[in-house]
Amino acid sequence: MKTQVKAGELKELLCTWFLALNLVLPTSYFQPYMGNHRKFIFVCNGSDCKGEGCKELGKEIKELTQSGHNKGKFKIIKTKCMDFCKSAPVVIYHNEVIKKADIAHVKKKIEH
Ligand code: FES
Repeated sequence: MKTQVKAGELKELLCTWFLALNLVLPTSYFQPYMGNHRKFIFVCNGSDCKGEGCKELGKEIKELTQSGHNKGKFKIIKTKCMDFCKSAPVVIYHNEVIKKADIAHVKKKIEH
């Protein structure tokens, strides 16, 4: 006789197991796998920014943030229009609007 576990029950079981593991193991155990802090990089994907190459810029930023010592430290968020269309493409990093952004400029900001 087969025992079937429904998806909802399995999810609940895994959550309970993970919570129990979280209580037993110190937070530092998880740090190699899950960074506590990630810096957010917002890349506008509105129509004007698309026209100015935001998709290519987004790919370059992704490559930059996934290589070497940057790996796991950043989270890239694609946004809708941020109302800076005349300055497209627009990137926001660390509460700073980077207008007419290019990869060199973003790289400089990230590394400082
Ligand atoms: S489309 Fe990017 S700021 Fe408007």
